[in-house]
Amino acid sequence: MEIIIEPDAGALADRAAQIVFAELARKPDLVLGLATGRTPIGLYERLRTKPEAFADVRFFNLDEFFGLGPSDPNSFNAFFYKHLLNHVKFQAKNVHLLRGDVKDLEEQAQLVEDRIKVVGGIDLQILGIGRNGHIGFNEPGSSLGSRTRPKTLEPETVAHYGGSIPNLAITMGVGTIMEARRCLMLASGADKAEIVCRMVEGPIMSEVPATALQMHPRAAAVLDEAAASKLKRRDYYKWVFANKWRVGQK
Ligand code: PGA
Repeated sequence: MEIIIEPDAGALADRAAQIVFAELARKPDLVLGLATGRTPIGLYERLRTKPEAFADVRFFNLDEFFGLGPSDPNSFNAFFYKHLLNHVKFQAKNVHLLRGDVKDLEEQAQLVEDRIKVVGGIDLQILGIGRNGHIGFNEPGSSLGSRTRPKTLEPETVAHYGGSIPNLAITMGVGTIMEARRCLMLASGADKAEIVCRMVEGPIMSEVPATALQMHPRAAAVLDEAAASKLKRRDYYKWVFANKWRVGQK
């Protein structure tokens, strides 16, 4: 996993936006997997500065609460419209966000898995990490080969979202996430330092689903100093990033 350490949350968002815009320049009809949470909000603020860049983008996302429709302010659908989609140019036919307001979550899961195949796979998946090591809503113990499916949330996860949300969700699986061509993990703040250390330097295990990213051929973690503070090889990662090969280098 490539580790990029930035001074603070603002610089982290700048770096993440630079990576997303570079992907959009390479492929204007990018298949982009979105993530919710506090961490990517700064990234979405920066993406909104180029509203035309999203006209052909195909949008997917990681997860949604069971029973909540897009008009519910607690839904992740509402989050994406509020923080990104309401501010950029997009085509409705290109929005494939998971829906929680369906009778059959398994049917919804299969529908989105099929749509990912139809568009040729996810090009870039944005990710955050929960303090319990989850990616999407793949809670501790999730199979590292799991597909999109219904998932019961840990009480700590429900509490993180203010407590008044369902304890059932639908989430892209760890195996589904691992098939994205590129993964961009964002983590900010001292309360993530311990789990970031386990994700990057700990053993790969379903108890910490984010550790699966160690097996991904093209995953990067953009961290701020606080989130990186417990990494044993922090200085080494900085040295590698400062000295890495860059396109066009002589
Ligand atoms: P956060 O959520 O960005 O609000 O910390 C991250 C996550 O649970 O994936």
